[in-house]
Amino acid sequence: MKLATIGTSSITQQFVKAVKKTGRFDYVGAYSRSEEKAKQFSEEFGGSRWFTTLEDLAASNEVDAIYCASPNGLHFQQVSVLLRGGKHVICEKPIFANLEEFDEAVKLADEHHVYLFEAIRNIQTPVFKKLQQELPRAGQLRSAVLQLIQYSSRYDKFLDGEITNIFSPKFAAGALQDLGVYPTYVAVALFGEPERSVYYPVKLSNGIDGGGTLVLTYPGFVCTILCSKIAYSDAPSEIHGEKGTFRINNSSNIARLEWIDAHNKEVQPIATHFEEDDKIYEISNFADILEQNNKQEYLRLRALSRSVVKTMSSARKQSGIIFPND
Ligand SMILES: NC(=O)c1ccc[n+]([C@@H]2O[C@H](COP(=O)([O-])OP(=O)(O)OC[C@H]3O[C@@H](n4cnc5c(N)ncnc54)[C@H](OP(=O)(O)O)[C@@H]3O)[C@@H](O)[C@H]2O)c1
Repeated sequence: MKLATIGTSSITQQFVKAVKKTGRFDYVGAYSRSEEKAKQFSEEFGGSRWFTTLEDLAASNEVDAIYCASPNGLHFQQVSVLLRGGKHVICEKPIFANLEEFDEAVKLADEHHVYLFEAIRNIQTPVFKKLQQELPRAGQLRSAVLQLIQYSSRYDKFLDGEITNIFSPKFAAGALQDLGVYPTYVAVALFGEPERSVYYPVKLSNGIDGGGTLVLTYPGFVCTILCSKIAYSDAPSEIHGEKGTFRINNSSNIARLEWIDAHNKEVQPIATHFEEDDKIYEISNFADILEQNNKQEYLRLRALSRSVVKTMSSARKQSGIIFPND
């Protein structure tokens, strides 16, 4: 499989490095708005081609799949061009701003017989998979507190008057979209689509959410998701059942899982696996699906992705945060 990339920021560099580590795709080259950047990026990672228009990229018969890491608000517009060109697409999280975009893109993918993936690394890690297997041990779930509270250096810029893409409603950004997507994926992958989702944002002066609390209601329990780009926490995330608690170190970089028995309060380590390039798991899974044409696994991931978009977008819109994409 031959892979090209969109975006020349550090996330694309990390992704291509992880691709090389897996050896599962051949790297063809980069698209950038700047020819100089496209050429430089391609050459740095051993690519032989570079692109300055999406149409050329979408039409290239040297490319099978494209990884898209542009600002969130551009995902739908760019991914649509690629799907129409008959390319498989791996789009960075959060894949799209709302269900209308999601359903339209899926329709395009199906019409052109290609696959559309969301790059979300946390649910593909070995420790998360262990948590999925072990979850029934907790008995009836009663609550969960999942969090991702990471102070952003771009907030310093915001305070200095510079609005970077990730703090801009124009680019379908904000804390829920950028960070809340990780714990929301954990919740939806473990517990399914919630009955209700309500978001309580902490809005900044331009109306974007610098942080917020997303409350997901399930039969018999409530999952609370805390996300923020304007504060810091190192606290773990927990899932509380009547028989005990599961604790994970972090909801985006899931590397450690513990079990705490509700009766004797003993803390038992269940799994520890730290992998710096944790994108290798999603990349390997996407490569397996494409090579084996594993439609069942593809549809499983796609349904999960749709549930996350639905959960986040309905709560966000109800909280009064509206993007141009809406
Ligand atoms: N999975 C993860 O761990 C992870 C981590 C960080 C970010 N992400 C995701 O990756 C995506 C990109 O995030 P980022 O922080 O790298 O974004 P960014 O720096 O704002 O932009 C990414 C790239 O998009 C292009 N771009 C920037 N502004 C643009 C504009 N106004 N119009 C058209 N193209 C523009 C630039 O490439 P050129 O200048 O070369 O065209 C840039 O390198 C987001 O969806 C984000 O959620 C994922």
